[in-house]
Amino acid sequence: MADALPICLLDGAFLPTEAARVSPFDRGFLFGDGIYEVVPCCNGRPLRLPAHLQRLQDGLGALGIANPHSVSRWTELVHELIAANGGGDLGLYLQVTRGPGRGRDFLPQADLQQTVFGFCWRLAPAAREQLERGLAAVTLDDIRWLRCDIKSIALLGPVMLRMQARDQGADEAILIRDGRLAEGSSSAVFVAVGGRIITPPASHERLPSVTRLIIIEVLAALGLPLDVREVARDELAGADEIWIASSTRDAMPIAQLDGHAIGTGKPGPLWHRVYDAMQELKQRETAG
Ligand code: PDD
Repeated sequence: MADALPICLLDGAFLPTEAARVSPFDRGFLFGDGIYEVVPCCNGRPLRLPAHLQRLQDGLGALGIANPHSVSRWTELVHELIAANGGGDLGLYLQVTRGPGRGRDFLPQADLQQTVFGFCWRLAPAAREQLERGLAAVTLDDIRWLRCDIKSIALLGPVMLRMQARDQGADEAILIRDGRLAEGSSSAVFVAVGGRIITPPASHERLPSVTRLIIIEVLAALGLPLDVREVARDELAGADEIWIASSTRDAMPIAQLDGHAIGTGKPGPLWHRVYDAMQELKQRETAG
């Protein structure tokens, strides 16, 4: 990931990123008590912002944190943050914590003021070499909690899993819970078998991925068959294609899983069609 761009958003103000400060008593710092979003921006415009803001609202609602802004105010703030950093293709991060407490009480005081933080970074297109060769992934046991549908800022599980994957020479960890595919450590997963494409259903075990919904639309537009169902761990090794999907990585092909080739060991034809269609969709939806 590229460095943070020079202007950030903190509690309604735009300021130099390096000058941003929050209290060490912020419950985000002490407890991971907050929600975040990552919004991809193309041509200086956010992609599917309403879906990201809805997921932010859902997460805040699950934690009992009042949303500090209306959808229209969030939309203004996002556009201002993009413009302040020169537009273009960006990743945009938003975080709302329950705010600073007066000490360290597990139970939050009633009168806390939420902390709102946002920043951007330049989103480079996927490296040509990655698109030609595909990524490597390893399967790891899902050590995360039981509410992975909440986009909590407490990300110790994914951090540990990504470090473990990296130490095994892999780009992503594909997480397994109770013998079934959960999701990637920071991505949704699609599997292609015998010409059909499969993605697991929404549940508490998975983040409701916005990119996954875009891919489901793209598959329908391309007339490609989709099954939404659980995927057994044993099905993964024999799949023709596996893709990971996220706001910052679009759909990326997994060519090696646990050191073995998936399909031909190269990005597959279904992935190519979906990837191309996604690039068109992104350009179409963010064109001026
Ligand atoms: N992560 N599942 C998990 C656990 C994720 O962390 C993410 C994205 C996704 C994909 O969701 P979306 O398509 O809405 O980006 C699925 C972001 C990019 C992150 O934490 O940086």
